[in-house]
Amino acid sequence: MDAISVIRAKRDAQELTPEQIDWVVDAYTRGEVAHEQMSALAMAIYLNGMSRVEVARWTAAMIASGERMDFAALGVPTADKHSTGGVGDKITLPLAPLVAACGAAVPQLSGRGLGHTGGTLDKLEAIPGWRASLSNERMMGVLRDVGSVICAAGDGLAPADKRLYALRDVTGTVESIPLIASSIMSKKIAEGTGSLVLDVKVGSGAFMKSLDQARELASTMVELGTDHGLRTVALLTDMSTPLGNTAGNALEVREAVEVLAGGGPADVVELTLALAREMLDAAGLPDADPAKALADGSAMDHWRRMITAQGGDPDAALPVAREQHVVHAAADGLLAALDAYAVGLAAWRLGAGRARQGEAVQAGAGVELHAKPGERVTKGQPLLTLHTDTPEKLPYALEALDGGVLITPPETEYRTTPIVLERVG
Ligand code: URA
Repeated sequence: MDAISVIRAKRDAQELTPEQIDWVVDAYTRGEVAHEQMSALAMAIYLNGMSRVEVARWTAAMIASGERMDFAALGVPTADKHSTGGVGDKITLPLAPLVAACGAAVPQLSGRGLGHTGGTLDKLEAIPGWRASLSNERMMGVLRDVGSVICAAGDGLAPADKRLYALRDVTGTVESIPLIASSIMSKKIAEGTGSLVLDVKVGSGAFMKSLDQARELASTMVELGTDHGLRTVALLTDMSTPLGNTAGNALEVREAVEVLAGGGPADVVELTLALAREMLDAAGLPDADPAKALADGSAMDHWRRMITAQGGDPDAALPVAREQHVVHAAADGLLAALDAYAVGLAAWRLGAGRARQGEAVQAGAGVELHAKPGERVTKGQPLLTLHTDTPEKLPYALEALDGGVLITPPETEYRTTPIVLERVG
């Protein structure tokens, strides 16, 4: 077997054989297939797709590239959530301690930013002292003591995905249904959670731009999970505009803490509660009341213990970027659209995401929203604040926002899009 014949087969839109898939995933994990060869194969998969049979085999090969974990010893039901990636998507931060406060254990293995979307680990690393990397023993310890843990997957878990995920981020091969489905499900199945709720984002700020694509991704993942005995459901949720009022690492942590304190933006609270109810249902705890756990402070208590257990100081001041730049409304009217992709790209260009593998992100960089679609605005009022440590990038970030802000005459009718669009599973 050799990499060139596998690349050629997929380049020519052929179905890869199980042997080709097993070999190429294993050889890439061992370093025998070079990054440039896997880049070419990923691009061929991006362009020509994969059948459900190929995706299932590719996922199984990624699972087999490493170890599998098992939480049976905890003696409580486990539930996890995974988002396909969005702008301002800080939901994991309040959700994990909230579900733990309701009685399920949440082993939340999370990732870093991918393309214009933020990553949970990059966000939490804005908290002074907080560590993403834990040994398996330490992860189990935090889970046992606190009930939830958010950390990087250990080196042993789906190492094929670790290499491929970082490669896709810098080769324009993220937005592919087979690659996203296999990436997410290999980690979740290897992780050993008892149930899984997928948040499949739809819209300009998501990798899936249309409802049809999102349905296809959701059903592929639900099928993969079910075939491996993992209770899996998916919510399709709106990502045409950023979630909440912030996109960027420390900015989003601040907003997540507001939600845990019983406040925060209505859309973030609504989606956090919707996902919490699905997780608790899937974990066999349908009578738990997540709204009560937010209101009575028990979710906040779990958050503080979880952050502390991972070396973080929940009371420490969060980093603030060196420079701020305010974007004002250009006219009186109705804010008809604030495009999620434009905001995500601007946040990324301000330094919240990375352009090269392994690059550091700026904790304070990002975009703050002062108005949301559907609100009336007046000419000159602040609409956005851009935060960055590298002000020379501001023109580049402002360019990303070109055409992303739409103000229509004040009398224009506005139709609200629901956050949760559909459920699959
Ligand atoms: N999240 C993942 O883990 N992988 C992807 O490919 C996209 C989102």
